[in-house]
Amino acid sequence: MLKTDILIIGSGISGLFFAMKTAKKRPDLSIVIMTKKTAPNTNTQLAQGGIAVVTNHIKDSFEQHIKDTLKSGGGHCDQAIVKMVIEQAPERLEELLKIGTSFDKNQEGQWDLGLEGGHSQHRILHHKDSSGLEIEKKLLKIIEQLPNIQLFENYQVIDLNTETKQEQTTSCGAFFYDKNTDQIKYIRTRCIVLSTGGCGQLFENTTNPEIATGDGIAMAARAGAEIEDMQYIQFHPTALFRGEKNPLFLISEAVRGFGAHIVNEEGKRFLFKYDSRGELATRDIVSHAIYREMHESRKKHVYLDCRHLDPSAFYQKFPSIAKHCNEIELFPEKDLIPIVPAAHYQCGGIKVDRNGLTTVKNLYAIGECARTGLHGKNRLASNSLLEALVFAHQASENINSTIDSFEFSSKILVPKFTGTENKKDHVTFLVLKKEIQALLTNFYLSEERDTDFAFQKIKLIKNAAETLAAKQQITIPFIEFSNMLTVALIIIKHCKKRKTPFIMSLN
Ligand code: SIN
Repeated sequence: MLKTDILIIGSGISGLFFAMKTAKKRPDLSIVIMTKKTAPNTNTQLAQGGIAVVTNHIKDSFEQHIKDTLKSGGGHCDQAIVKMVIEQAPERLEELLKIGTSFDKNQEGQWDLGLEGGHSQHRILHHKDSSGLEIEKKLLKIIEQLPNIQLFENYQVIDLNTETKQEQTTSCGAFFYDKNTDQIKYIRTRCIVLSTGGCGQLFENTTNPEIATGDGIAMAARAGAEIEDMQYIQFHPTALFRGEKNPLFLISEAVRGFGAHIVNEEGKRFLFKYDSRGELATRDIVSHAIYREMHESRKKHVYLDCRHLDPSAFYQKFPSIAKHCNEIELFPEKDLIPIVPAAHYQCGGIKVDRNGLTTVKNLYAIGECARTGLHGKNRLASNSLLEALVFAHQASENINSTIDSFEFSSKILVPKFTGTENKKDHVTFLVLKKEIQALLTNFYLSEERDTDFAFQKIKLIKNAAETLAAKQQITIPFIEFSNMLTVALIIIKHCKKRKTPFIMSLN
């Protein structure tokens, strides 16, 4: 039976940064990273914008970054956490630079700071338009060299195992599906760090990759951890519209920061009707405005207009975006780019304290799956990679000082399932997945948010899945689908608890 001191689930920026820091500090500890596909297959590697950090203390200040974050969060942020994250940013940035992460500089050799919606200053460090990929690559390189880290790819964690003594629940292991051997196994641990990302795949239009099925939130909820604020799903205003395609390609907010306009079917800008910051208002406001415009014009999208921008500067700054557009015969220097808002980021999640500790003992959550209090109702652009770094650091420090008192549990469970992969299963669950996406999208974007109706529909989908699952053994599509179902129910429940419709009335 496998055994490790620390189990990290997920291989995005938060999990890798945590692993790197902890492994270097504590060579005596064994660390396992499990990831359900290959290691780079994460939301992190798709992050285009960059990291918001105050580096120019003449034009900018921590206070301004804090103010922008609080404003974007709509009065629902935890002020102490906001201050901690923003003031820690330069130190965490320094650590990224030390491992060779490269961010763009201007001709004077200064950071080429980008501007994004809701920021009052240029403060986004970026690596062209593929900042996440650059960070992911550098972290993975270091991880490979650290002897006390084992990276297990194609290992889908199914559920966490916990033990409850004197009303205190403690995490002590996890069941996982080893896709390489098609077996279900168990790993014992002294502590678990969830860095499993978000749940964008619950929606029809999303920028999140297929892996974003809310696994960590569902597992944490089943283990008894508190989940908070799942009613705050952030929609990114500028995903490339491609009909029914899922996921949608993201067009970074940095493009608007560089001067792109959003225009309607008549080629007219309309955002100033909604906010004096126009295209540079926060994402919630811009997305609301686009939905309203789409509704009024009965169109499925609006457009991003880059035609007035310097083409060579555009192609140099945004090579991946330009390449992607060109591949589908769109040329930003002469064509309008069809765009639509898409589910992009989950602002709530597994409730954690300032050290990333959940309400279950020895269970930590960092990155998008965690609800730290930084984002409130609407995350400020490019604060997510920053949050991931800061909370990975906090959790690493905390575990370093406490793990020596954590015992391995003597409770060993033998998995009762054996795995099978079955093609028919994939197709059926794909159909059910589409039903969940349609249901949640309609529910979430409607002003009414009829929770009773949504619960009833979810029940029908759940029954269909259970009938199907009863006929055969556990499979990967079933695991992911069950997690999506759990998270959909949490979102609907949280929307019922606090009625704060994200999208304005479309009537
Ligand atoms: C973007 O580049 O627009 C996305 C960055 C983020 O989600 O903060």
